[in-house]
Amino acid sequence: MNNFDLHNPTRIVFGANTISRLDELVPATARVLILYGGESARRNGTLAEVRAALGQRDVREFGGIEPNPSYETLMRAVEQIRLEGLDFLLAVGGGSVIDGTKFVAAAVGYQGDPWEIMETHGATVRRAMAFGAVLTLPATGSEMNSGSVVSKKSTKAKLVFSSPHVFPRFSVLDPTKTFSLPLTQVANGVVDAFTHVMEQYMTYPADARVQDRFAEGLLQTLVEIGPQVLAEPSNYDARANLMWAATMALNGLIAAGVPEDWSTHMIGHELTALHGVDHARTLAIVLPANMQVRREAKRAKLLQYAERVWRITEGSEDQRIDEAIARTRAFFESLGVPTRLRDHDIGAHHIETVISQLEAHGMTALGERQDVTLETSRRILEAGL
Ligand code: NZQ
Ligand code: ZN
Repeated sequence: MNNFDLHNPTRIVFGANTISRLDELVPATARVLILYGGESARRNGTLAEVRAALGQRDVREFGGIEPNPSYETLMRAVEQIRLEGLDFLLAVGGGSVIDGTKFVAAAVGYQGDPWEIMETHGATVRRAMAFGAVLTLPATGSEMNSGSVVSKKSTKAKLVFSSPHVFPRFSVLDPTKTFSLPLTQVANGVVDAFTHVMEQYMTYPADARVQDRFAEGLLQTLVEIGPQVLAEPSNYDARANLMWAATMALNGLIAAGVPEDWSTHMIGHELTALHGVDHARTLAIVLPANMQVRREAKRAKLLQYAERVWRITEGSEDQRIDEAIARTRAFFESLGVPTRLRDHDIGAHHIETVISQLEAHGMTALGERQDVTLETSRRILEAGL
């Protein structure tokens, strides 16, 4: 097992009817900016509940944070905060709103051009405003981690930053707030969480038994719960299990002491930035192709995954690996999430641009051994056609 240093300061308040707890979670004298996305949080009543819980506090709103939040939009929130002298941020939404809030929190007091935060992947962040979150979409884990993904529309760049300064102070996870999600977003969330676990598990053995079995438990839970949430959208316990699984998939716990890959995400981000494909839908294409192309380097973990997650014990090693990859693809497809580039009208002639964007963003040595070169990324994309 590798050495690690694990510190997660985010307080989680979980369960039905927990939004009222905001009154004790947000400082009584806070001047609050609520950040939200489109209209979903207003339509399903979450915004009204949040405002009621905040009582007499001075509360302002900033709406319109789009899926795959843009730098351009977020900088308008930064201006509003400076202008109105606000001191506490509250994100109400999914990963995009929470990620956007993290960027805003870091950008308000940033010395210099805030886009540097993204270009340096957070290395230059020295402080951030305090913020909390009310999660409405289980998927990204942003509610309990220190990562954020922001896009610049003008250059079609989608970059990641992380900093210990942008852990949420708290996140309220009320599964009933996910009832209003379109089922396509629920399916996206299952695929995103599944892929997060895989990026931290499907590498090479590090004799990290607790982390491996936690990861396998999360994968099995997602395989079980995904179809159930889609079949019974009003099943509270199914929603609650999905929500907690997605949070646990990317809060640092299963990454402690093990190698991590993340090449599926980095390739996927370029597909979103160039072609507007939903984040999770890029992963559903890239992950099976990635496992196929890098099957030799990942052989030991692929066999472990086949046996422990999918209970595949028959056949030669190569047959078991083939079947594990096929089962992964079939799982995504069974949720209604396609796994081919062609399903999004992306063809072989688009691959070169994806590769040049990876190059422009320094994504030339990805993966747990930094051996995913542009050539390997090209082969992965070709395998996803
Ligand atoms: O904008 P509104 O109207 O709120 O609608 C949203 C949006 O259209 C809707 N929605 C959210 N909660 C809802 C709801 N609709 C009805 N009822 C509700 N309760 O869902 C749509 C998608 O929302 P979004 O926040 O974009 O989805 P998600 O949570 O999947 O976030 C995706 C973003 O997170 C980044 C992705 O790259 C992408 O930009 N990621 C962040 C990570 C992190 N911080 O650790 C890790 C992930 O790998 C991911 O990269
Ligand atoms: Zn993701």
